[in-house]
Amino acid sequence: MSGEEAPTQQQQQQQQQPEQVNKPDESAPAATSDAPGESGAAAAEEKPLSCRALVLTGFGGYDKVRLQVKTLERPRLKAGEVLVRVKACGLNFAELLGRQGLYELLPAPPVTMGMEGSGVVEAVGEGVKDRKVGDRVIAMSRSGMWQELVIVPANYTFPMPEQMSFEEGAAIPVNYITAYMMLFEMANVRPSKSVLVHMAAGGVGIAVTQLCQTVPDVTVFGTASASKHETIAQGGVTHPIDYRTKDYVEEIRKISPKGVDIVLDPLGGSDTQKGFNLLKPLGTLIVFGVANCMTGQKKNLLAMAKTWYNQLSLNMLKLMQANKAVCGFHLGYITDEQLISRAMVTLLELYRQGKIKPRIDSCYHFEEVTDAMKRMHERQNIGKVILLPEPKKEEDKPDAEPGEIVEKTEAAVSEKKEEAKEEVKAEKD
Ligand SMILES: NC(=O)c1ccc[n+]([C@@H]2O[C@H](COP(=O)([O-])OP(=O)(O)OC[C@H]3O[C@@H](n4cnc5c(N)ncnc54)[C@H](OP(=O)(O)O)[C@@H]3O)[C@@H](O)[C@H]2O)c1
Repeated sequence: MSGEEAPTQQQQQQQQQPEQVNKPDESAPAATSDAPGESGAAAAEEKPLSCRALVLTGFGGYDKVRLQVKTLERPRLKAGEVLVRVKACGLNFAELLGRQGLYELLPAPPVTMGMEGSGVVEAVGEGVKDRKVGDRVIAMSRSGMWQELVIVPANYTFPMPEQMSFEEGAAIPVNYITAYMMLFEMANVRPSKSVLVHMAAGGVGIAVTQLCQTVPDVTVFGTASASKHETIAQGGVTHPIDYRTKDYVEEIRKISPKGVDIVLDPLGGSDTQKGFNLLKPLGTLIVFGVANCMTGQKKNLLAMAKTWYNQLSLNMLKLMQANKAVCGFHLGYITDEQLISRAMVTLLELYRQGKIKPRIDSCYHFEEVTDAMKRMHERQNIGKVILLPEPKKEEDKPDAEPGEIVEKTEAAVSEKKEEAKEEVKAEKD
């Protein structure tokens, strides 16, 4: 389906071909299905439920993510699962990659994207003792969180502190667990160390900066677009660097001729080599992303090839002689739930103590998902971009006719479509 195809045609196609129900992935950190399973005991309600979901309908540009309304029949939970009504979800860089077909952990389209969210427990399955109906929780899954109702294993939900908003709750898991595990589990950041983090004004970058401040006297070098420097400096970045107009390696060497102790590299390609060279002896480089592969809304094969070609290639003897550590980090491949829950418990305690607080850049209703993705692609966000399942209220909409908004976002669902709700199989496997 080309990006030029009329939205109305696309929506018609979706009505004819309802989204397949994802089979739960047992190895996933937390499996979410698009519809509740048959087995198990506790039923939330016998009447069908309407559920708004953002569905990736194919790989490509913004128009591939579409708002659909599903009807879920007889939600039943398996033992150990909970049903959560989602109030806010996080948008991550991984979903931009996923939309372009560059995120290997995302099941094939049609699929509901989304790895994190927050909401209220609506039903609990057999054997769930420590969650109850009405609890405000943060929930995680490998995919499937961008919908109003999700089923997740109870041990991938985390009770939210009282003062935490749903938006903040949705902003914690991916960004903060990633930052926490890299800094404290892998790089072992200690007092007086120095850290270079790229994309310092993004979700992970801000989490890294805040966590660095929990350790005395850590110097943070952060690359970001110039317009964001004042904000990230206030947030704790010691030396903001404009990577767009300056050579960040030179800038860092001017301030710290010996380099830095820790480099957190979400860019890949030649930046990984630069990061390695910037390390002091006994320093640690952690590679955790390939943002250099992405230059716009559509897949760029040239950028991918360039990133691949320029990647750091290591000779073990030279590595030994360099006295440096090179690590890789990918949260999606951490399947040990205890590692995740241990990090979350620590992070929620740091939140209660006022030591971390997600910076919410912006919130978009599901029908505005194109604008949300654009904000990240166009490098405008400072902090987390949040998606809200709740429909946008008429009074909040701009002066444009409702029809114009549908055309602009290419993701809104019409009232007509709501009436012709899709039947989604109530089977999980
Ligand atoms: N391995 C893992 O488990 C894991 C987990 C989470 C995130 N990550 C990685 O961490 C990085 C940050 O993720 P995030 O979700 O926190 O996103 P984010 O930082 O909020 O991403 C958006 C910002 O990144 C900067 N940027 C740099 N290169 C870009 C590009 N090619 N396209 C668009 N923006 C670019 C832009 O800000 P400036 O211009 O101001 O720099 C932009 O505003 C990504 O590479 C992501 O894949 C990895």
